[in-house]
Amino acid sequence: MAEPLTIDDLKRMARRRVPKMFFDYADSGSWTEGTYRANEADFADIKLRQRVLVDMTNRSLKSTMLGEEVAMPVALAPTGLTGMQHADGEMLAAQAAEEFGVPFTLSTMSICSIEDVASVTKKPFWFQLYVMRDRGFVESLIERAKAANCSALVLTLDLQILGQRHKDLRNGLSAPPKFTAKHIWQMATRPAWCMGMLGTKRHTFRNIAGHVKGVGDLSSLSSWTADQFDPQLSWDDVEWIRQRWGGKLILKGILDREDAELATRTGADALIVSNHGGRQLDGAPSSISMLEDIANAVGDRIEVFMDGGVRSGQDVLKALCLGAKGVFIGRPFLYGLGAQGKKGVTATLNIIAKELDTTMALCGRRDIKDVGKDMLHRG
Ligand code: FNR
Repeated sequence: MAEPLTIDDLKRMARRRVPKMFFDYADSGSWTEGTYRANEADFADIKLRQRVLVDMTNRSLKSTMLGEEVAMPVALAPTGLTGMQHADGEMLAAQAAEEFGVPFTLSTMSICSIEDVASVTKKPFWFQLYVMRDRGFVESLIERAKAANCSALVLTLDLQILGQRHKDLRNGLSAPPKFTAKHIWQMATRPAWCMGMLGTKRHTFRNIAGHVKGVGDLSSLSSWTADQFDPQLSWDDVEWIRQRWGGKLILKGILDREDAELATRTGADALIVSNHGGRQLDGAPSSISMLEDIANAVGDRIEVFMDGGVRSGQDVLKALCLGAKGVFIGRPFLYGLGAQGKKGVTATLNIIAKELDTTMALCGRRDIKDVGKDMLHRG
């Protein structure tokens, strides 16, 4: 099989290797998927200034995110069920990110647990927290993340209730899941994926299984979890979590200037301009279209990251020009993982780095830390 050259190549390969219900789980947005599509499409409207006869030798993509040195300002976003794209997916993705030199964020809803990932990595990773109604469980997650030496907590704010994804419901990925002969057929036609799954014991939400009484099998796990998202979550809870965590805190899911203003008052270190990859409020604007406004509103008071729709290094550059200090990618690394496991996540990062480097150079810049709005065409 030819080497993948683009994220789209990896997506096509993943579609062929991952059972349909799990591929669809990654490749879906809520309701009409309008926001999901806009996240990607709106990048194309941003035009770059082509500059010539600038010295383009000795280029550097090195930067910092939250004070941590990164090989390029790109982090892997927290994604639930990652271990269903590929056996032991979170562990493999964390290792690929560590070797490349970018942050990996483990989701509360991961298949591999905090401890699983810690056991195969040497450097600290980031942990994403969903605030569950069961605050005792939330506290225990925070303690486990501290014990695993996680260097930042990503607190997701845009999932107080679940946005409905039609593909998941049609595929039986509901709470509890409805498995039928169709699913067995989907898995049977993906033998490489099946072999991987047979070789691992990690098939459930291991951050939860065994840590909550009476919640063990897949059915009780998914029902417990779906019931646990807290519709009453408030800014006071952010303060409660900040105090308990005590380390670097990132607020994820800010898409509005007023919320961004409120976020700056929490004492958090960073925010992520995000609409959850178009999986929550369908009809919301794309992340990239809100980035500049939010970055301008908060200034230097808080570090600004973004995610949603980034499918190339060129998209990363555009986001940096519009005020992001770093960019998170979700589906691009999931496609890489589904396509080729750890090697595919490394391929994702290599593709993005190469595109980022080339685009930056053709815009006449040598250092990623020097990119800015002056590199964009404002028609
Ligand atoms: C997500 N996202 C997400 N976010 C979060 O805070 N916790 C989670 O468990 C998940 N789970 C999840 C699963 C899948 C399959 C996807 C695609 C996304 C949202 C994620 O962190 C990020 O905001 C988006 O993925 C960014 O958009 P792109 O890069 O996927 O377009």
